[in-house]
Amino acid sequence: MLQACLLILFFLYRTAVGACGFGSFGATINGGGVSGASDLYRNGVGCDTCYQVRCTNSARCSKKGVTVVITDQGSSDRTDFILSKRAFGRMAKTTNAAASLFSLGIVDIEYRRVSCSYPNKNITITIEENSNYLHYLALAILYQQGKKDITAIQLCETNNFVCKVVDRSYGAVWTTTSPPNNDDCDENWVLPHNNIPRHWKVGQIYESRVQVN
Ligand SMILES: *[C@@H]1O[C@H](CO)[C@@H](O)[C@H](O)[C@H]1NC(C)=O
Repeated sequence: MLQACLLILFFLYRTAVGACGFGSFGATINGGGVSGASDLYRNGVGCDTCYQVRCTNSARCSKKGVTVVITDQGSSDRTDFILSKRAFGRMAKTTNAAASLFSLGIVDIEYRRVSCSYPNKNITITIEENSNYLHYLALAILYQQGKKDITAIQLCETNNFVCKVVDRSYGAVWTTTSPPNNDDCDENWVLPHNNIPRHWKVGQIYESRVQVN
């Protein structure tokens, strides 16, 4: 009988109040409501976190503002966020107000961290393009619900259940150059229901079928 040999991903979470590695996905997340961040990028820990951002000019700006997902690192002119055009426009009360916000380009804002909401999405793992089958595996984690930070990821193989903590390479990308060793798998870890297949492919997207509450 053939024995399955699969990789399992584990995620560890800690509650906490472009560069992220999302590739072309980056622009589509949250209906295009995305942003680059400077300090809030936090060396990549801030990737896939969500903020409610509103501009403070009461004549032009809605109270609700816009909820954005951090997908990139970036700063210019001491800004906290570089919003996508779509997200920037959504802060306005009306189309006319949006036009005048666009003409300003830089506006004063207030923001707070909020839970990310991805209805009907589970955590999704993409195999980054610079991965090299069997030698180098780079993963990006997408669609993480809620308000927690991913602090660690373990890769385990399912035959002998040996695991290895992988390193945050940059942004939301995690990489490993050597096979799993004997690190213990902790019971606080979230276990995906769906494994990465043994013959994983560069550029492929895997649904973990698990979400964080
Ligand atoms: C998310 O995972 C749950 C539990 O495995 C599953 O029932 C659901 O269909 C998944 N949703 C999507 C969109 O894949």
